[in-house]
Amino acid sequence: MGLIPPKSFIGLLFITSALFICSWFFLLRSNDRTRFVDHYLLPNSHLIAASDNRLVVENTGQSLRFGSDKKEILKVFMYDLPPEFHFGLTGWKPKGNNVWPDLREGVPHYPGGLNLQHSIEYWLTMDLLSSQHSDNLSWRSVKRVLNSSEADVIFVPFFSSISYNRFKNREKGKKKCIDSLLQDKLVSLLTSQEEWKRCGGRDHIVLAHHPNSLLDARTKLFNAMYILSDFGRYPPTLANVEKDVIAPYKHVVPTFVNDSSTFDSRPTLLYFQGAIYRKDGGAIRQELYMMIKDEKDVHFQFGTIMKGGIRQATEGMRSSKFCLCIAGDTPSSNRLFDSIASHCVPVIISDDLELPYEDVLDYSEFCIFIRGSDALKKNFLMNFMRSIKKEEWTKMWSRLQEVEKFFEYQYPSKEGDAVQMIWQAIARKAPPLRLKVNREKRYSRSEPLNQSSFQTLPLPRTFW
Ligand SMILES: *[C@@H]1O[C@H](CO)[C@@H](O)[C@H](O)[C@H]1NC(C)=O
Ligand SMILES: *[C@@H]1O[C@H](CO)[C@@H](O)[C@H](O)[C@H]1NC(C)=O
Ligand SMILES: *[C@@H]1O[C@H](CO)[C@@H](O)[C@H](O)[C@H]1NC(C)=O
Ligand SMILES: *[C@@H]1O[C@H](CO)[C@@H](O)[C@H](O)[C@H]1NC(C)=O
Repeated sequence: MGLIPPKSFIGLLFITSALFICSWFFLLRSNDRTRFVDHYLLPNSHLIAASDNRLVVENTGQSLRFGSDKKEILKVFMYDLPPEFHFGLTGWKPKGNNVWPDLREGVPHYPGGLNLQHSIEYWLTMDLLSSQHSDNLSWRSVKRVLNSSEADVIFVPFFSSISYNRFKNREKGKKKCIDSLLQDKLVSLLTSQEEWKRCGGRDHIVLAHHPNSLLDARTKLFNAMYILSDFGRYPPTLANVEKDVIAPYKHVVPTFVNDSSTFDSRPTLLYFQGAIYRKDGGAIRQELYMMIKDEKDVHFQFGTIMKGGIRQATEGMRSSKFCLCIAGDTPSSNRLFDSIASHCVPVIISDDLELPYEDVLDYSEFCIFIRGSDALKKNFLMNFMRSIKKEEWTKMWSRLQEVEKFFEYQYPSKEGDAVQMIWQAIARKAPPLRLKVNREKRYSRSEPLNQSSFQTLPLPRTFW
């Protein structure tokens, strides 16, 4: 005791205890369940973590704000397109000259059944409309602005999926179907807008979630950011991971609320129900079917989701440990999102699949990925599935319950649901987009070299 005076001993004790408590704090944090959204993105990204699970874009406005830690949300300008492009397609009738429904009076209905899978257009538009009346913007990712020069991005409210689903067939005596006519009209309307001309539509958001929607216009509007279900029917020049956003399907089986099932209480090991014979990439379904249909704890059957199929699929998925998600006509399918809602660990066999918000979400924590070539090796799939033990499965099962809200479409939208996650995915694309647009503007002042005058310039012979 002679060496250390009592006062500094108390100080030392205090410091050690403080360090001890701090280290516990860090240890606890590193076990924090909510870390599956990666906040540690690239250092020059404009994203900052506002609270757990939430990403907010900072400084997306035209001007940077110094010395202010105020979080900014994505500012979106939406064209007031005539209702025939959006809610009119769902059967909604406008009142007077109003283009938009007043959501405080009631919410328009979106056609049900399988249409709902691609209803992304409806949920995003409603969230944008309601963002105006919301006085609590604290958890919101987006705000509608009425002046396009204040906006980060421009939203094109064309409900292309329902337009395809309902109006793809030509009426007798007509040259084109309504869906095609609307697309033609949209292209000429858009390309004549000041907002479009400003940067060739690069900051425009165009929705085409159904793989066959926007079939005519997609080759003309490809500068825009597309919201898609996958890239299966798009050449990389029209759509790609860098430019565009992948959005989840809306699941058609209901969410498994209060799921108290366990590894042992789910009798089926592997579940698949769907069309077995598909074109294109779907040939693998047929081969797998032949390989594993006779395994005792496998359910692999033909079935559609219509006519009682939804109830059957709900029960089937809830009583299975793993659900097969195999490439169909296109790399993506609704089955992945139905599996997530049923807490049935997805087994994804689709080599070219792109997943929603994969830049911030690690799917390997709650999905099993198997290469198509491996899946077709003799006994590979069944041996692999049987090798996954209770503990590992239970981990993935509880992860599924943490992430399921990211795939939930609803109105009103809630914090961290699919609607907010899509806006945030768009927001993450905004800074690189602005970089591109601004770089292209560098020489816009010295533009007199237009196409015709350029051609008259004498070029040196060796130029090409
Ligand atoms: C806004 O919403 C947040 C999160 O839901 C809540 O914590 C906050 O109290 C709300 N603020 C107001 C003014 O209602
Ligand atoms: C829109 O915003 C710009 C820039 O802030 C401003 O110059 C313009 O007057 C605004 N337009 C309208 C119609 O308010
Ligand atoms: C889930 O559990 C909660 C609390 O125990 C209960 O209030 C709720 O009604 C349950 N929901 C369903 C769909 O069973
Ligand atoms: C650009 O070309 C158009 C005709 O295509 C011509 O009318 C116009 O004067 C040209 N602009 C300049 C700056 O040369």
